[in-house]
Amino acid sequence: MTGSWWREGVFYQIYPRSFQDSNGDGVGDLAGITRRLDHLNDGSARSLGVQAIWLSPFYRSPMKDFGYDVFDYRDVDPIFGTLDDFDHLLEEAHRRGIRVLVDLVPNHTSDQHPWFIASRSSRNDPKRDWYVWADGRNGGPPNNWRAVFGSAEKRAAWTLDPASGQYYLHHFLPQQPDLNWWNEEVRRAIDEVMRFWLDRGVDGFRIDVAHSLVKDKLLRNNPRLFAKRRPRHNWELDEVHEIHRRWRRLLDEYDDRMAVGEVSTRKLSDLVRYYGNDDELHMPFNFNFLRQPWKAERFRAIVEEWERRLPAHAWPDYTLTNHDRSRAATRYGPRNARVAALMLLTLRGTPFIYYGEEIGMTDVPIPPERIVDVDGRDPERTPMQWDAAPNAGFTIGRPWLPIAADAEQVNVAAQRDDPASLFSFYRRVIWLRHGSPALRAGSYRSLRAPRGVFAYIREADGERLMVALNFLDRPSSVSLDENADIVVSTSDGRTGDRLEHAVELGPNEGLIAKLG
Ligand code: GLC
Repeated sequence: MTGSWWREGVFYQIYPRSFQDSNGDGVGDLAGITRRLDHLNDGSARSLGVQAIWLSPFYRSPMKDFGYDVFDYRDVDPIFGTLDDFDHLLEEAHRRGIRVLVDLVPNHTSDQHPWFIASRSSRNDPKRDWYVWADGRNGGPPNNWRAVFGSAEKRAAWTLDPASGQYYLHHFLPQQPDLNWWNEEVRRAIDEVMRFWLDRGVDGFRIDVAHSLVKDKLLRNNPRLFAKRRPRHNWELDEVHEIHRRWRRLLDEYDDRMAVGEVSTRKLSDLVRYYGNDDELHMPFNFNFLRQPWKAERFRAIVEEWERRLPAHAWPDYTLTNHDRSRAATRYGPRNARVAALMLLTLRGTPFIYYGEEIGMTDVPIPPERIVDVDGRDPERTPMQWDAAPNAGFTIGRPWLPIAADAEQVNVAAQRDDPASLFSFYRRVIWLRHGSPALRAGSYRSLRAPRGVFAYIREADGERLMVALNFLDRPSSVSLDENADIVVSTSDGRTGDRLEHAVELGPNEGLIAKLG
């Protein structure tokens, strides 16, 4: 069925620099990813079993923001390989039933992009208006907009170009000038980039800062930080939805493709607008789990509100982390990794796993002399831990970021043959999910549960499953109106146990039980 792959499948984000190096330069590459595809899905329950991957940018880039500063949208940076390597990766992924999303970065380019070089060359250049240029005001930048990176004082979103005497806008680094999304030629140029990848066979896009793009034409100042009502003039303008509708039309010209938007909107009431009338991006990311302390009530509240707000056509998604955030096992504590995984993989919606999450990778402390990211995100981007070999099997060279100190114990090879490992738990739940209409597509209903426990029922085609998650370090229990059989538990040895009108949960235990 059209769309079922992205609604029912499990997604996995790969940060290409850190997955697998194939040529010994210490940086991961596309050929390395291809080599490791069997870990992701070899068609058997020995593999993780994901149906789609999202690749963070691998385009030509000066790497000021490690690929989120694009210099050529249609080519692979030599550090990652070639377009042939990409085609090969795509073919090998598809052969295994893995769909591939590429990262589209439409808000800004690199300052080395030929478009910006032209735009900057003179006030009369035909590409001048492809970026946002403005005269300074009162001896300073055109307005008070702030960029995302850098210390508070230095964060003006504007940089003066002395040659032309005007400022240009950049919501990230000065080396990432913002495109002017009011300009129809810019819109057409990005359409062509999308077609380039769709024609090559990619299954869709993860769209970077999809809620930004369009900024106030009049460049009005934002209200002060603590003003009560705070409409911002540089993020989340209504006009951004027009662009999402345009992209949806473009995607719909192709067969069964999709896009998921990075939409960092906090309020679910605002986030839901990004589904439009089933005529915008297929899904905006729901990042709310990333902002929660480890409390059952908090997660439950998000899920319930989201379920309540979503119109029938809108399909939810959930994620615990990504390349911009502290890793889930670090934030929630390693002993909660299984309960977190069970929740992610059994809620109604598409789960996004971040590479390494399946083996419990944690943030790696980076010594000052090895810091490379402008925004402190190195700890969650360290190399994938494959085995106990030097550099965790990631590279035979010097890895671009340090390898975790625990990599000799925490790695794929060590966990593969251990039925009690976190990786085995992920595999068990993912493969169970594939075979379960209730988990893939069924309805969701919360259950009454004591404080510290999150419990719910998923149901479809006569299959009824209960999920109970104990967020606490002490035992708890949930009462049931009926009997149930445990299908999977984070505590080994309980599978098959009969539950009579109550579920006893050990500390930090989660389980799935079949009702009736
Ligand atoms: C997004 C990306 C982040 C990047 C930024 C600028 O938030 O996820 O990694 O630095 O956009 O492109």
